[in-house]
Amino acid sequence: MIRPILIAPSILSADFGRLAEEVKAIELAGADYVHVDVMDGHFVPNITIGPLVVEAVRRATKLPLDVHLMIEGADRLLEAFAAAGADLICVHAEACMHLHRTIQAIRALGKRPAVAINPATPLDSLRYVLPDVEMVLVMSVNPGFAGQAFIPAVLSKIRELRAEADRLGLELDIEVDGGVKADNVELPAAAGANVIVSGSGIFGSPDYRTTIARLRERAENAAPSA
Ligand code: DX5
Ligand code: ZN
Repeated sequence: MIRPILIAPSILSADFGRLAEEVKAIELAGADYVHVDVMDGHFVPNITIGPLVVEAVRRATKLPLDVHLMIEGADRLLEAFAAAGADLICVHAEACMHLHRTIQAIRALGKRPAVAINPATPLDSLRYVLPDVEMVLVMSVNPGFAGQAFIPAVLSKIRELRAEADRLGLELDIEVDGGVKADNVELPAAAGANVIVSGSGIFGSPDYRTTIARLRERAENAAPSA
């Protein structure tokens, strides 16, 4: 099933001193989502932002907020992130004791549920929740930091996931996150990923509009056509 290519700049690489401006800049530059990386210093070895900053980002843009929770105990914070203005709420399969319950809770809050898996996590962990989520985020680096190198071993995982979604007739978005830039985006796109996260690749570039357009064009050209 063909899904449109969506570009989701990760604000982890933005200038946090000018966060609202940076978010407006990527909106004007043609981004489809704003990817917001929430880290707790427990599930991942880094601390970033919480609901208060998500709320500030919400005020700066009309784009959907794709909130990637790299945290333990997400259940206790779902309501706060929903109230802060998240549109998609993505939890890690590795960090949820009762993943199905967490997905239901996100839906009950009126938000779009997504599940993320680390590079070493097999697809099997998603088998019984796949019909309940709108998106699967396949991590292509170990979560925690921007600017790491893309791990090519995840490409076969993306390919398998796309095949499984097609087999089940699901309109599933597959998001790839970590180490994706204009010069390698065709790899995950050809494998079947259609939501492209890029942090340092966009915010480290001189012209966000050109970089987003290049990412989109290369991903669209590489995307499977049947
Ligand atoms: C990593 C985050 C990513 C990261 C991507 O833990 O989930 O979203 O910011 O940054 P780049 O594109 O620089 O790898
Ligand atoms: Zn992320």
